[in-house]
Amino acid sequence: MSPAGRVDPYPTYEQLRGHGPVVQAGPVFYVVTDYAEADAILRDARFGVMDDNLRDQFLPGWRESPAVLSISRSMLRTNPPDHSRMRRLAAGAFTPRRIAAMRDVVVAQADELIDGMLARGRAPVDFLADFAYPLPVGVICALLGVPAADRPLFRRWATDLTGILEPEITPEELAVADRGAGELRDYFSALVAARRRAPADDLTTALVQAHDSDGDRLSGDELLANLIVLLVAGFETTTNLLGNGLVVLLDHPREAATLRDHPEFAPGYVDELLRYDSPVQLTSRMSTAPARHGGVDLPAESWLIVMLGAANRDPRRYPEPQRFDPWRPQVHPLSFGAGPHYCLGAALARLEAQVAFPLLLRRLPGLALAGPPERRIRLTLRGYATLPVTVGDGEASVVDRGTPAGATGATP
Ligand code: HEM
Repeated sequence: MSPAGRVDPYPTYEQLRGHGPVVQAGPVFYVVTDYAEADAILRDARFGVMDDNLRDQFLPGWRESPAVLSISRSMLRTNPPDHSRMRRLAAGAFTPRRIAAMRDVVVAQADELIDGMLARGRAPVDFLADFAYPLPVGVICALLGVPAADRPLFRRWATDLTGILEPEITPEELAVADRGAGELRDYFSALVAARRRAPADDLTTALVQAHDSDGDRLSGDELLANLIVLLVAGFETTTNLLGNGLVVLLDHPREAATLRDHPEFAPGYVDELLRYDSPVQLTSRMSTAPARHGGVDLPAESWLIVMLGAANRDPRRYPEPQRFDPWRPQVHPLSFGAGPHYCLGAALARLEAQVAFPLLLRRLPGLALAGPPERRIRLTLRGYATLPVTVGDGEASVVDRGTPAGATGATP
């Protein structure tokens, strides 16, 4: 949990792994680093996310925090039956058809952002500010029906709120997260009212209609909480996939050149990037009944930190795990979790990265780091604070950009 550990947790994961697949780190506190055990625990019905009773026990005063209160009403932090009900409703609105239809939006937005970077000439640009943030925020806002003019507001609000996903948070960071939650809640209350007056073909309208058709299906608090989670979960994480992934690709020019020339390999590349440097490094679970995993007896109400980033580097699952190898067979990283809370936006996040990386490599052949990238001091959401790059002169001709052929389902 130290700043150095958050910036580079991988050596610590290896030390933890040396103590076994599931390690007791306190009286009721366990850490999971093994791929098979992490996967099994996330799918085991005896384990749930921290519910109100446990929050009362472990986080007294949480009801006073708008940030914790808000996230706790969303599907991310509820157990059955509330979780299953909300998840079904959101999945009904978040259909594969709606996601597939986003491909053209993703291509158009990525192209526009690359044009913007090229317009800056040879001066260094911050890849995060100029590409990795605005692309996912633009895409999720398009999906939710948030007007383009409002998008810049969200970066700070979401960055503030996601502080509460960290395993430890200071009172100052909590105050910042509470402020972000308040601003997001006010924003979505107004958007919900607007969509009620004038429905549109967007995800917000679909969720508002699920709420209004029968108040029992989605309460007003749940509607807002899930809209906020969709927005927040939808871009900070994807930003980190784009930022972490770009650094890895620039560090592996041969592999990057292959992806540039063969965008049809993008699905395998993206899954290996997700595995190699996972944008979400951990999640947590509470056991509701005694269980045994990794040879360790876990009493009821044990608290487990499931280290997704460590499981993705488990040498028993991935030979030479510290090597970036886009030709690795059967990658299936745990970066999107597993089981009932498996990321609802996984297909969208994959689509964005599968479009973005080949397009960046093709349109910006001179793309290079312009200085050392700086990590954010966060463990749960692993990413960079700044990522200075120079983009060179761009491709010889920008007339025929075509559509990258990534995301075809092909793996290398
Ligand atoms: C690279 C990008 C992403 C990563 C690494 C990621 C990772 C995750 C993980 C690990 C979980 C499970 C948390 C747990 O089990 O406790 C999760 C859940 C979730 N994610 Fe993502 N996510 C990404 C992108 C997105 C996008 C684009 C969206 C929406 C547009 C999204 C929406 C959600 C939602 C709603 C949940 C909660 C699902 C539930 O609790 O049933 N995520 N995500």
